[in-house]
Amino acid sequence: RAGHPLVVAVDGPSGSGKSSVSKAAARALRLAYLDTGAMYRALTWYCLDRGIDLKDAAAVENAAEELPLEQSTSPDAEFVKVGGVDVTEAIREPRISENVSAVATTLGARTELIRRQREQIEKHRNRMVVEGRDITTVVAPRAEVRLLLTASEEARLRRRGVQLGGTQSKEQLAQQVLERDKKDSTVVNFTRAADGVVTLDSSDLDFRQTVDAVLDIVHRVLEHR
Ligand code: DC
Repeated sequence: RAGHPLVVAVDGPSGSGKSSVSKAAARALRLAYLDTGAMYRALTWYCLDRGIDLKDAAAVENAAEELPLEQSTSPDAEFVKVGGVDVTEAIREPRISENVSAVATTLGARTELIRRQREQIEKHRNRMVVEGRDITTVVAPRAEVRLLLTASEEARLRRRGVQLGGTQSKEQLAQQVLERDKKDSTVVNFTRAADGVVTLDSSDLDFRQTVDAVLDIVHRVLEHR
């Protein structure tokens, strides 16, 4: 029902199908949608644009604080702008994917982006699907629904490959996806569900089935409150 708080927190590794599933769930539930990975990507774009040394933690933290970010919170119209420049496509480029972990493992930068994420949730009156790596544990541990979306390594590599247009070799994909998860998991644990978090393994589900499974979980929670 429209007025009640309903935060749906979704975490998972890359290639788990998190973004597309979260977006579809937000649409079905008429909730706002926040892609927090896009925020780390936008910050990475900004740092590279400014020539900021990603190993300089103070400089990256400072960049996070001044980041002039505008991001869509509608599941129907995805866009990300930095300082008025539309970077929606640019933040998906390999040079960003290769550097984003350096930014995401800078704790001071995380503190600032987490603050902004909580601000967005509040601004939307706690009616939002929020997707990332630390949403169920750090950003919104009191969310009404907390989900860890997992998938086998094979399924994740396959999906990422399709997403990137099938242009990359298996080795390249494995390198990108698995290396990044390994780096990211040094600061956030998204491989095991925290207490109270429901694990949904999508390895053997197609897109529609995964979305339906998420909606089932949400409806079950709503019935019990
Ligand atoms: O989901 P994605 O691939 O767009 O995420 C981009 C990067 O940001 C990824 O390397 C992990 C990091 N990230 C994070 O550390 N915490 C989040 N809540 C979301 C993303």
